[in-house]
Amino acid sequence: MLLGCTASSVLGQTQAEDQWWAPGSGLPMPAAARYPNPYGELGILNTAGDYPTEGHAFFEPIGSNGRACVTCHQPASAMGLSTALIQQRWRASNGNDPLFAAIDGRNCPHLPANDPEAHSLLLERGLIRIFLPWPPRDPGGNAIEPEFTIEVVRDPTGCNTHPEYGLESTEPTISVYRRPRMAANLKYVTAADFGVTPFSIKDSRPASRDPETGRLVNMNMLADAREPTLRTQAISAALTHLETGGAPSDAQLAEIIDFEMQIYAAQAQHVGAGNLEEPGGPPALGPHAMLEGETGVLGNNTTRYVFPMGDAWTSLERSGDAEADAQNEFRESVQRGHDVFFFRTFWISDSMHINNIGLGNPIKRTCSTCHGMHMTGMDTANGFVDVGSTNLPWATENEQNPWTEKKPEMPLFRLSCDNAHAPHPFFGRVIYSQDPGRALITGRCNDIGSIVMQQFRGIASRAPYLTNGSAKNLRELIDFYDRRYNIRYSEQEKIDLENFLSTL
Ligand code: HEC
Ligand code: HEC
Repeated sequence: MLLGCTASSVLGQTQAEDQWWAPGSGLPMPAAARYPNPYGELGILNTAGDYPTEGHAFFEPIGSNGRACVTCHQPASAMGLSTALIQQRWRASNGNDPLFAAIDGRNCPHLPANDPEAHSLLLERGLIRIFLPWPPRDPGGNAIEPEFTIEVVRDPTGCNTHPEYGLESTEPTISVYRRPRMAANLKYVTAADFGVTPFSIKDSRPASRDPETGRLVNMNMLADAREPTLRTQAISAALTHLETGGAPSDAQLAEIIDFEMQIYAAQAQHVGAGNLEEPGGPPALGPHAMLEGETGVLGNNTTRYVFPMGDAWTSLERSGDAEADAQNEFRESVQRGHDVFFFRTFWISDSMHINNIGLGNPIKRTCSTCHGMHMTGMDTANGFVDVGSTNLPWATENEQNPWTEKKPEMPLFRLSCDNAHAPHPFFGRVIYSQDPGRALITGRCNDIGSIVMQQFRGIASRAPYLTNGSAKNLRELIDFYDRRYNIRYSEQEKIDLENFLSTL
């Protein structure tokens, strides 16, 4: 019998306080840095070398609320933001850090400052309020007529029914709550090669374009792909999260984008598997591999794997040296976890933008069917898919859901699709969702609950997981899939899969 421990259950270490990167600190960023996480150490590479951050638009509080981009994209959290770091910040600042700004660091701006209850979604699940106009607008700013009506069923934050911020306000707005995504390894996220076609492979609709060059983009950014480029994304991030009042200057935008494109992040050292960058080790692992990896390549085939492991960690010899043998045992578990990810089949069913694109429903495939991009595990085509993370009946926090006793913390919407369009093929005309995702941008019934998948890298540094933060740790993420697709993983498979993911 194999089993054995996962690394996190042995260590359970949390992040140290001095890892917080304060906006405007003016500290230089080293060319290479390591940050501890519960599974070992994250490695960050800056290809521009030792890097001055003084006066730099990514690091300076360029808006009115004291935040910078780095506030929510912290090197210690793989350029994302873990709840461990958020909670430390709360304690260290008594809730006064600009991170907790009313605009989106509070469950809703009208709630009291310094009250942990008013910041519960950020403190407990790492969620930032994302507020979007309803009905949605096209790139020209004109209202799109949606295929469905939207009602608020449950409003635990008070924001969606609020007279100033809600759906009935003079500027009708929908608030959803989402995890920050990594501002690193972005050459993969923005690559417009494979799968980038004038009409989206997923929904046959015209694909988004760079508004300046007219070039097609891959639509893999943000949970709903609402921004086509790093430039438009940085402008909207500045206007909302930083409350800049106006767009940053061209020079500031160029500085932000240059920085984002030169940062690479991945696990570098592992408590169980040791050095992940050893010569001759698995070619997928470590931040240097991210720097050197090829972009825009489909990896779900055996000539080009999503995460190429080589055969460095299969059938390792035992020497009798307890420490070396334990490491080899762990490395074999990581390799098996890779094989679970890549080869272990299960029935994928009722997942919009996968099961309706001619592959069949259900289809017997693997994790890598959806997570197919070489080196990242994103989609090579536009990555929005409904995996059930926000739509009932699969989402956690469904009162009728036997899997969870969690008290509902997230808003719940009822979306009723009109009769002028075909009903949703899997859900019909009435759909309950905590975050309609892509549908908030397109207004289309078939997009309800479709969320863009994000990269797996540096994942050990940025719990919790899924866009709504509903999986506290990697094990909960694996358990979500086990329930969602009735996979029936063995305990060994779950341990191996967790060990594998934690090395990325
Ligand atoms: C208050 C926290 C916060 C601040 C400050 C912030 N972001 Fe973000 N960032 C987020 C959240 C939340 C998301 C995901 C939003 C979504 O999915 O709809 C995100 C997503 C991103 C992404 C997309 C990555 C991907 O793979 O999809 C990039 C790039 C990014 N932010 C850059 C920036 C830049 C540049 C700034 C400064 C101008 C900035 N952010 C400031 C919270 C923040
Ligand atoms: C039908 C397509 C599909 C399949 C199959 C699938 N996923 Fe996902 N995965 C997604 C989508 C879509 C998201 C984004 C959902 C969200 O963030 O709410 C996602 C998100 C993730 C994340 C991101 C976590 C984070 O927050 O950074 C991980 C890790 C992940 N999946 C692992 C897996 C594993 C392991 C399997 C196999 C058991 C798997 N996925 C199977 C579509 C899929």
